[in-house]
Amino acid sequence: MAQHLRQVENALDRLLSPHAPPGSAWAAPADLNDAMRYAVLDGGKRLRPLLVLAAFEAVHGAPASDADAAPMRAACAVELIHAYSLVHDDMPCMDNDVLRRGKPTVHVQFGQAGALLAGDALQTLAFEVLTPLDARVDPAVQARLCAILARASGRVGMAGGQAIDLASVGQTLSEDSLRHMHQLKTGALLQASVMMGAACGTASAMALQAMEAFGQAIGLAFQVVDDVLDVTADSATLGKTAGKDADNDKPTYVALMGLERSRAYAATLAEQAHAALQGSGLADTAALAALVNRVIHRVH
Ligand code: IPE
Ligand code: IPE
Ligand code: MG
Ligand code: MG
Ligand code: MG
Repeated sequence: MAQHLRQVENALDRLLSPHAPPGSAWAAPADLNDAMRYAVLDGGKRLRPLLVLAAFEAVHGAPASDADAAPMRAACAVELIHAYSLVHDDMPCMDNDVLRRGKPTVHVQFGQAGALLAGDALQTLAFEVLTPLDARVDPAVQARLCAILARASGRVGMAGGQAIDLASVGQTLSEDSLRHMHQLKTGALLQASVMMGAACGTASAMALQAMEAFGQAIGLAFQVVDDVLDVTADSATLGKTAGKDADNDKPTYVALMGLERSRAYAATLAEQAHAALQGSGLADTAALAALVNRVIHRVH
């Protein structure tokens, strides 16, 4: 994982270079590019890229090598979408947060218009990354990766979940509605990470079904733990303001079922994720299994 992390950091840094990108006569306006770099680099657990690379390893039977351009592109693309979602999530019109990844949020540093545009441009950069102008990635794989990522990010994915989140402030949701909201706003992108990794290789129908179940379980577990940490961790450890969910009257698992039952539910979801791996018929699932444990036992 350490090697994957280094590769992802380097690739993201290159993608956000201030120089003119391949195929373009112009470089991005410096302020916009600075805000994008600020949003993406120096922080972040890179969980979604690690899931992409681990899922590729599981179906491919070996880690991604330099020759495998698609997995690293997919890993970066999903992290760019995630970073954009955080920039917008923190804005005053949404969660109104001033701290992210241990730094002032993008709108605090670059203004609201700067944050809005940085988020917009990060979103489209994700799809630029998936569709290189040279023939380095099979066009069918490009199309599949774009299809998965677009759906997970949009109206029945992250953006849809964020809309439900905002519309649900101050309400007590049923467990089904809360699960639905969490699956969209956070789960969808984590599940997409797994499916994008799998789409870069060749997987049996059984393996793909197992990856879907795995992605759904780890995706939901991730947001349950996020809700728990908002209550139990401090801002310095989290790198973002603790206690914001209760302050903003957000519907969360902790609000619905309390701390102990939320923790137990996260553990149940982790078991479901491990069970999906065991039923996948795939041999190289150690990295995916390790990521489940990381999600459950993380402290930030
Ligand atoms: C935080 O995601 C936002 C949620 C979807 C809950 P992460 O906890 O993965 O944030 P970073 O990328 O590590 O900062
Ligand atoms: C955000 O959920 C999910 C996103 C789509 C960004 P939260 O609002 O709980 O994320 P944090 O706690 O601010 O990171
Ligand atoms: Mg939010
Ligand atoms: Mg938030
Ligand atoms: Mg949260």
